[in-house]
Amino acid sequence: MEKHFAVIGNPIGHSYSPGMHNAGYKSLGIDAQYHRFQVPPDRLAEAVNGLCALGFSGWNVTLPHKETIIPHLDTLTPQAKRAGAVNTVKIVDGEKIGHNTDGDGFICSIESELQEFADKKAVVLGAGGASKGIALALAAKGMRVHILNRTPEKASELVRILDSKGGRGSFGEFKPGDWLKDVDLLVQTTSLGLRGEPFPFALEGICPKALAVDIIVNAQETSFLQEAKKLGCRVLDGTGMLLHQGALAWEFWLGGQAPIEVMRKGLQDQMQ
Ligand code: ATR
Repeated sequence: MEKHFAVIGNPIGHSYSPGMHNAGYKSLGIDAQYHRFQVPPDRLAEAVNGLCALGFSGWNVTLPHKETIIPHLDTLTPQAKRAGAVNTVKIVDGEKIGHNTDGDGFICSIESELQEFADKKAVVLGAGGASKGIALALAAKGMRVHILNRTPEKASELVRILDSKGGRGSFGEFKPGDWLKDVDLLVQTTSLGLRGEPFPFALEGICPKALAVDIIVNAQETSFLQEAKKLGCRVLDGTGMLLHQGALAWEFWLGGQAPIEVMRKGLQDQMQ
């Protein structure tokens, strides 16, 4: 029987996920379709019931529903509990299981560039939902995580959460500082750059062996990445994270190994 998957969010028009998953189903001859649905916040409960009633096997969840969907689910996997957020739901015998592949997807996306994680230093810019998932995944890999955020109270709250889960967190002001000298991994998770705004401070003095990642998708040209590249760092945008969180969701739903290269091509074809 044909299986149905989807991504729900608001807005959702820009989502690359349908093209990425449908390319994968087609390549393996899997009888499935991946849809996208715009769901306003006040219709989330109805949307969850509707997807269940329509026999969907699972769906991805994106902004702004990653936390608010939790009360509508039956159980959470350890990854979803760790992040306090859900980006993947699977229906098993009518039970709604919430999972999170963002953090592990981020780790997979940088593994080719950063082989050793333990005791290395990550600096994460931003303290919103995306930052939290990534910071927790990095701490779980044994990294020391330093959070810089415009609103320091949010950074200190995130450090409290990191430390409560056995991480070694610290925080500072959203500006250049000594941290630039010994950073191994710098992750830009703020919304700066989404609309082409310039990154607000210089990265002069950054350790040139650092890996700099901007989680904005299809954004090799953000001013943040351009500057990091100019200063000798290796750089990645968020396309790899999107690919790997999708591949991990696929494997959670369907088992086996996701056809990662086909899915990568499915993504790239939409970005031309
Ligand atoms: P997401 O779930 O994508 O992380 P979010 O939870 O709204 O989105 O978080 C947005 C992040 O971008 C926050 O860290 C925010 O900083 P504040 O906590 O100070 O609001 C950061 N951000 C947004 N606009 C910014 C700006 N102009 N300068 C610096 N940081 C900014």
